[in-house]
Amino acid sequence: MTVITCIEDQQRLAEGRVPRMFYDYVDAGSWTEATYRSNEEDFRRLKLRQRVGADVSNRSTRMDMLGHNLPMPVALAPIGLAGMQHANGEILAAQAAEEFGIPFTLSTMSICSIEDVASHTTKPFWFQLYVMRDKDFIRRLIGRAKIAQCSALMITLDLQLLAQRHKDLKNGLSAPPKPTINNIFNMLTKPSWCWNMLKTKRRQFGNIVGHVKGVDDMSSLADWTSSQFDPSLRWEDLASLRNLWDKKLIIKGIMDKDDAIEAVRVGADAIVVSNHGGRQLDGTISSIRALPQILDAIGEKCEVWIDGGIRSGQDILRAIAVGARGTLIGRAYVYGLGASGKQGVSKTLGILQKELDLSLGLCGKKNLKEVDGSILHG
Ligand code: GLV
Repeated sequence: MTVITCIEDQQRLAEGRVPRMFYDYVDAGSWTEATYRSNEEDFRRLKLRQRVGADVSNRSTRMDMLGHNLPMPVALAPIGLAGMQHANGEILAAQAAEEFGIPFTLSTMSICSIEDVASHTTKPFWFQLYVMRDKDFIRRLIGRAKIAQCSALMITLDLQLLAQRHKDLKNGLSAPPKPTINNIFNMLTKPSWCWNMLKTKRRQFGNIVGHVKGVDDMSSLADWTSSQFDPSLRWEDLASLRNLWDKKLIIKGIMDKDDAIEAVRVGADAIVVSNHGGRQLDGTISSIRALPQILDAIGEKCEVWIDGGIRSGQDILRAIAVGARGTLIGRAYVYGLGASGKQGVSKTLGILQKELDLSLGLCGKKNLKEVDGSILHG
């Protein structure tokens, strides 16, 4: 029995248990993966100041994100195809997040539908929206999120075009996987994934199949998706979308101060400084490097969160030290999901919180309110 002590252990386990095409889908960055690597490297470049002789016996990692008092400043990021990392993946991750007391964000491109996740959880979750060309579908999707009592809408703006991820093309990514010789051989080495997948009905994009005319099988869905992401989206369109949603609005995919100012103007309650985990514009800077200029530009006008490259509690601490009011984690939790379902996600959250708590104390601080740039070496 492997003893899991860090996110890298979860990653290795997931790699062994999840079919190659889905592991690669999550693990990959776009093109050369330079941005993906910068996200991680730039976090590690920020050096924490070790401090001693301060009483750190009573510590807390609690912090508010959008008015929710959380055990740590972390929400689960929206992840397309999470239900292919593990059968019923979105339901299991949402349940783990609920038990831990942090928000879960359901992706538009999820396998389990909004309604399905709502009926398997007891607290409101957040819904992530891709703005697509089919505006009627978007209106209906927002309506479904309202009926499901979702408490925040997170609009992702940086997937107006889909960047190339070499591995997805080489693996022939599809959901469910096509029965090619390679896929069949690879899946034979993942018996528990196959067994769980056989027991569930949830194997297609749950928010889309059955909700869009003419989309009832995988090939038409693939066509629909590639033709549906809307590259013509402008900030003016965001302002009208804002009118359809009266609860909290989060805008994700901001890497530039001018875009941050626009996001505040259209009514964002929070923005996520994000380059989509290095999956979109390859060659851009890391999200942690983009954060300071964005904080300078918008001050306290909305909450500023960050994702991309967070693989440890120390990284969460670094993000807060630089000035983020919260973080989203993607791969870190998905590895746990692939490794061992709901229990794996809970394990990931426990690991991150423990790392955050101990590192906070080793920096001589008792809570996250005391954390700022002074805990970093200059
Ligand atoms: C979608 O969110 C993706 O990065 O594939």
